[in-house]
Amino acid sequence: MTRIETIIAAHAGREGPLLPILHDVQAALGHVPEEAVRTIAQALNLSRAEVHGVVSFYHDFHSAPEPRRVVKLCRAEACQARGVEALVRDLPDVAGVKVETVYCLGLCSVGPNAMVGDTLHARLDAARLGQLMADMA
Ligand code: FES
Repeated sequence: MTRIETIIAAHAGREGPLLPILHDVQAALGHVPEEAVRTIAQALNLSRAEVHGVVSFYHDFHSAPEPRRVVKLCRAEACQARGVEALVRDLPDVAGVKVETVYCLGLCSVGPNAMVGDTLHARLDAARLGQLMADMA
């Protein structure tokens, strides 16, 4: 039995098993690969499009492995007031570095803020954000 089949079997007989199965696959594999979508669709008697729809709707699920280097950029109200949207508009495209939106990192008075791993980077401007991303590449 494959890992995916084992996960599906663990939810057998449960009502509404699709989300719990997807969560378990995401946790086990770090993403929900095409092979999992096919196997889950077959096991739950759904179309692959239906399973794909759920995977792409929920932010928690990823159909490809996440790049290891992620900048979590706060785009909540206080960071917006401090100019984060201008940073987003001019975001550099740095290979291997992904920028994700988060909503509030808890240090609103020193925004715009971003988190890389466990480190908070405050008072970002375009140059500092660009340098931060370049350093991660
Ligand atoms: Fe950005 Fe709170 S709004 S840290």
